[in-house]
Amino acid sequence: MRPPEAVTVTSCLLQVILVSGSSESSDRRRQERHLQVLGDVVSGPARRMSLALHLDSSLPADLRQAVLSVEAVRRTPHLALNLSLSHEPHSSSSFSSPMLHVVLWFTPSSDLLQSLWLYWKPHNLLLFSMGSSLGTDELQNEVLNSIEKLTLIGDLSADENRDSDALGVFTVRPFSSSGVQLLGPWERESFNSWEALFPDRFPSFEGYTFHIASRIVDEPFFYLSASDPLKGDGVSEEMVQSLSTKLNFTYTTTTDSIDSNWGALINGSWDGLLGMIERREKNFTINILWITYDRNKAFDMSASFHTDGYGAFLPQPAPLPLWTSLVRPLGSTVWFAVLVSLLAAIFVTKLQEDVVASRSGIYRRRGLARVWLELYRGLANQSAPTLPRTPWQRMFVAVWLFCCLVITGAYTCNLVGIFTRPAYPSRLRSLQNLIDSDFRYPHTTYTLQ
Ligand SMILES: *[C@@H]1O[C@H](CO)[C@@H](O)[C@H](O)[C@H]1NC(C)=O
Ligand SMILES: *[C@@H]1O[C@H](CO)[C@@H](O)[C@H](O)[C@H]1NC(C)=O
Ligand SMILES: *[C@@H]1O[C@H](CO)[C@@H](O)[C@H](O)[C@H]1NC(C)=O
Ligand SMILES: *[C@@H]1O[C@H](CO)[C@@H](O)[C@H](O)[C@H]1NC(C)=O
Ligand SMILES: *[C@@H]1O[C@H](CO)[C@@H](O)[C@H](O)[C@H]1NC(C)=O
Repeated sequence: MRPPEAVTVTSCLLQVILVSGSSESSDRRRQERHLQVLGDVVSGPARRMSLALHLDSSLPADLRQAVLSVEAVRRTPHLALNLSLSHEPHSSSSFSSPMLHVVLWFTPSSDLLQSLWLYWKPHNLLLFSMGSSLGTDELQNEVLNSIEKLTLIGDLSADENRDSDALGVFTVRPFSSSGVQLLGPWERESFNSWEALFPDRFPSFEGYTFHIASRIVDEPFFYLSASDPLKGDGVSEEMVQSLSTKLNFTYTTTTDSIDSNWGALINGSWDGLLGMIERREKNFTINILWITYDRNKAFDMSASFHTDGYGAFLPQPAPLPLWTSLVRPLGSTVWFAVLVSLLAAIFVTKLQEDVVASRSGIYRRRGLARVWLELYRGLANQSAPTLPRTPWQRMFVAVWLFCCLVITGAYTCNLVGIFTRPAYPSRLRSLQNLIDSDFRYPHTTYTLQ
């Protein structure tokens, strides 16, 4: 049973919808068009990317739902996030494919873009304006200048009086004076490839002067030129030189960093070359620097073009002296065990003799030396010359001889093995070996380039 209040509420809603019916339907048409274009982008030019969808908090819940249920979006790995000033820092490394960040908004805000840049550092960014304001001014926002690929899609009718259905595709080249560029009205066919939708934003630096932090001490990469003592020379210098003619920029270099360091994280801030870049005194460096965890976290690196390999050279050890071959077939614990059992056996046999002699009276006891010699015969693969009298003494001798058989067998077999192959002292085979060896100095300090 429905309570009567509910009926009135429903009729009220109906009225509202009827009153604003005409603009509602054109809004809906526009939204559908937007969602269709979004689907085309995701399944077309961005089909190899995973998505991070940043949803403007002013988007109504049903639109939010509609965005997430676009077929192409559902079939692509994606994250849906609320665009807000209090982003949680994230790493996008959980996706193996490159990521396209899509900002869906009604009203553009530069604060939101700033926090987006701060926490996500996107490489590829698509701004998608769902509302009537286009926000092309935001494209020129300084925080977006370092983004590699940046495109905005939004209603053309917002800016110009065109066909109300058309969406425009815009981008901006940070180093060009031409400002925001309209790449054309959205058409599936003309923006079918990644390069068409996200053109190179940095085809030329238009004569810009970069300031390079450098240390000219690093042969063969960047060292003092023999002809001009103020100029650097080397592989890095040649590379920047060629890039500068191709990309139309000029540059200045420094002969050394302020503190003659390469760059280490000390008490939370960087020194040396990397410190100059961190403090924005210089734009980048062209010196060869090792990649470490901290550096990789704090700085963006170019692709590496040089990899160093290191080896430790140790003299080859001489073969072990030949006489040690006699000892080596058995390990030291085995030798020890053999010695202990021989002593124990001598002791037990002597005790047995004493007991038997004291019982019979006529039996002549053997001396300690004879007992030792007779037991020792077993170890030298010789048979026992005489058997003891009583059965329990014989049992003991049988066990002893059996042990001797095993030991002599093992010894001779190992000896054969050793004589057929020369033996070397153990070499370093793992990092642990090196750590355990005496090649390690107790205190080694070095500075990382
Ligand atoms: C984003 O906001 C919507 C509604 O405002 C909410 O339902 C959703 O849980 C939020 N998502 C996140 C990740 O905070
Ligand atoms: C480099 O850019 C400047 C500024 O846009 C321009 O005047 C110059 O002709 C360009 N040089 C080359 C070689 O393209
Ligand atoms: C780092 O900070 C500690 C404590 O604040 C200080 O004692 C130390 O000298 C600092 N190190 C450097 C290199 O500034
Ligand atoms: C390069 O560094 C200078 C400071 O030395 C800075 O003013 C300029 O904005 C930087 N250029 C870029 C493109 O980051
Ligand atoms: C022990 O000696 C016997 C002959 O007395 C010989 O056949 C056997 O090979 C030897 N065993 C070992 C391990 O040397």
